[in-house]
Amino acid sequence: MNEGRVADPSVAAGVDSVVVLDCGSQYSQLIARRVRELNVYSELLPFDTPWSEIAARKPAAVILSGGPASVYEAGSPHPDPALWTGGVPILGICYGLHLMAQALGGEVVSFSRKEFGPAVVTVTGSDRLFAGLDPQQSVWMSHGDSIERLPAGFQPTASTGSTPYAAVADPERRLYGIQFHPEVVHTPHGREILRNFVVEIAGARQSWTPANFIASSVEGIRSRVDEHSRATGTDGRVLCALSGGVDSAVAATLVHRAVGDRLICVHVDHGMMRKNETELLRTAFEQLGVPVIVVNARERFLRKLEGVTDPERKRHIIGNEFIRVFEDEAAKLGQIDFLTQGTLYPDVIESATSVTEKAAAKIKTHHNVGGLPEDLSFQLIEPLRYLFKDEVRAVGTELGLPDSMVQRQPFPGPGLAIRIIGEVTAERLDTLREADWIVIDEIKAAGLYRSVWQSFAILTPVRSVGVMGDGRTYGNLVAVRAVTSEDAMTADWAKLPYEVLARISSRIVNEVPGVNRVVYDISSKPPATIEWE
Ligand code: XMP
Repeated sequence: MNEGRVADPSVAAGVDSVVVLDCGSQYSQLIARRVRELNVYSELLPFDTPWSEIAARKPAAVILSGGPASVYEAGSPHPDPALWTGGVPILGICYGLHLMAQALGGEVVSFSRKEFGPAVVTVTGSDRLFAGLDPQQSVWMSHGDSIERLPAGFQPTASTGSTPYAAVADPERRLYGIQFHPEVVHTPHGREILRNFVVEIAGARQSWTPANFIASSVEGIRSRVDEHSRATGTDGRVLCALSGGVDSAVAATLVHRAVGDRLICVHVDHGMMRKNETELLRTAFEQLGVPVIVVNARERFLRKLEGVTDPERKRHIIGNEFIRVFEDEAAKLGQIDFLTQGTLYPDVIESATSVTEKAAAKIKTHHNVGGLPEDLSFQLIEPLRYLFKDEVRAVGTELGLPDSMVQRQPFPGPGLAIRIIGEVTAERLDTLREADWIVIDEIKAAGLYRSVWQSFAILTPVRSVGVMGDGRTYGNLVAVRAVTSEDAMTADWAKLPYEVLARISSRIVNEVPGVNRVVYDISSKPPATIEWE
């Protein structure tokens, strides 16, 4: 069984939950995120999860996502029919609505007036789903099928110029369906509609808070480690690789709360970190009372990278070397039973099979430095396995981690090495580190650090002629990249104010030896990626 289907008891205990059945929509994850924003725990499960597995979770409600298929097509995703008579409130969104209509005796057909994009719905009754909202609502539609005939017990509750069935309900059985997407930002009152369903109609308690998560997670980790050490007669020691990023930091802090000094944190300094990063990490953890073993492996990594210019080779070398260094350190520590990892929910969902197997072309090999060699003999503790990134940040803050760590922009495992185009040398690392520091410093000073997804410098192999004082220079070209993004899957270049760009440029050429020219990267993803390598 795929692990992604197993509810974590430390998460699920005592909190109400909503199961979202993934019928293949690109927005399925977003539905779960929106429900969690209401402080109700939500889990995304494959559409064909047996009803017995769903019911075992005692969900307060089930939401069926949209999807690209048509319910009348052979082979289209259909949930376990027992769902419809399980007595749990259900909200069907788009394809989910069609599933509900079809399964309960209605009819769904291909629609001659397909609706894609913004639409206005008119609420036609006093349905609880729209309680507190104006009768006219802007919504986001994306459908080519529509209901032709409603099942018995249902009434239409909202319409558009194109369909009388923009929303339908059978309040007695607490079955609701909407043709539009409440989860996307283009449906401005989608949040209230979801709230009406989850909280008012289904009665879910809003108890999914960082504090509750921490309490149950710490308790869960402690009992698991204690049980293991009782059963095996070991100390139950836990190892954690701290990368400097928010995920491993939050995971380590949670585990430390649970098992105290049985947690051993190791930070491999591969020399590709940003300025002062290792020091910041050490100090932040010292303040929390968590000692960190810092392994200075800079020379070792640099030697391996000598003469290497190919991006994928760099990634492989760093990933493999990281594992070796980590294994060497682990071997010095004696008996270790567990390894903590900062795996997040989107990774778990990714690895669970969905309706359409992703056969995406490999763009680049990601290495989560701080990541795990697959054949290590530790048991895994993944306390963030059911959290989205914004929830990890909220938990980090609640745990008392400093903002500088909790709000940190994402940073790739191979670090600065993939922001140096061409060979990585100690000197070029120093140049990039200084330039990068200035970018971050100015972005922070302008109050933009949290509104951009990532902002950084790239050291290119290009050299160009310049003039400084009265002399000719032939110096390095530094590129600056700042992007806005929701999830790094797509990104746009950030429209930074000219004054900020001007300050960044002038400081880099003045303060970083050997750099005489700065350019700003104005490419979006796609077709460019965020990192240059
Ligand atoms: P790209 O460059 O593919 O990056 O648009 C998407 C996001 O992933 C980050 N990234 C990585 N993160 N290990 C990581 O942990 C890696 O090897 C890696 N490569 C890219 C990148 O910074 C961006 O946020």
